[in-house]
Amino acid sequence: MLKINDLCYSVVENGQEKKILKNINLSFEDNKIYAITGHNGSGKSTLLKIIMGIVLPNNGSIVYENKEISTLSITERAKLGFSYAFQQPVTYKGLKVRDLLNIASGEQQNLAAMCDVLSKVGLCAKDYIDRNVDEKLSGGELKRIELASVLARKSKVNLFDEPEAGIDLWSFENLTSLFENLKGKTNIIVSHQKRILEIADEIIVLNNGEIVLQGERQKVLPMLSIKTCGRLREGQNG
Ligand SMILES: Nc1ncnc2c1ncn2[C@@H]1O[C@H](COP(=O)(O)OP(=O)(O)O)[C@@H](O)[C@H]1O
Ligand SMILES: [Mg+2]
Repeated sequence: MLKINDLCYSVVENGQEKKILKNINLSFEDNKIYAITGHNGSGKSTLLKIIMGIVLPNNGSIVYENKEISTLSITERAKLGFSYAFQQPVTYKGLKVRDLLNIASGEQQNLAAMCDVLSKVGLCAKDYIDRNVDEKLSGGELKRIELASVLARKSKVNLFDEPEAGIDLWSFENLTSLFENLKGKTNIIVSHQKRILEIADEIIVLNNGEIVLQGERQKVLPMLSIKTCGRLREGQNG
């Protein structure tokens, strides 16, 4: 169980305090898929970065398996079993796809193991393992390789920021089945894609740094598809 208690994050911009996350309280159970959605700028990426330790909150605690982790570094959280896939995937000069997968899994992987994770993201290992993880790859290819590295890590808590970005719709079946394959873990996926929201157990809606809707997918999804903006405002007032 991962718990977030009273989490607040603000920055100072032009001498004024800008509140980015306001008193966020959430519980993530093991073996469930959580989708976080909401308008651009609502604080989704910031929340994910705070869980991973990339951004430090001003206030609040993060408790994982009854242990306070909000003071732990990114590396310490990774050792505890946290993985993170960036909204904009990172490139690594001089690193090949096979090196990235070896580092991610913590062991020398054979072709069959690399083929297994790469095929889950719709890539053929033979075409990719000797390519450099650099800007010569397309945005969609980089995104898939980053997802493959998260799979190779076999983490307990997977954090994905807009995994669908840059991935063509034809590959969507692959992408959604990838998350279904991760059902034995805790998966927190920031997404705008209905097809990803449809495989979530629970949906959390952020607006302007606040949780305005949350609950089981069956309950939340119909409310989103009616009229997102109106619903968000309604949630905020109520
Ligand atoms: N370090 C920062 N300094 C100033 N503004 C920031 C900083 N980090 C995030 N923000 C702002 O916080 C808001 C939420 O950002 P973000 O979490 O990236 O939103 P989302 O992922 O929901 O689109 C945005 O308005 C963004 O510009
Ligand atoms: Mg974002």
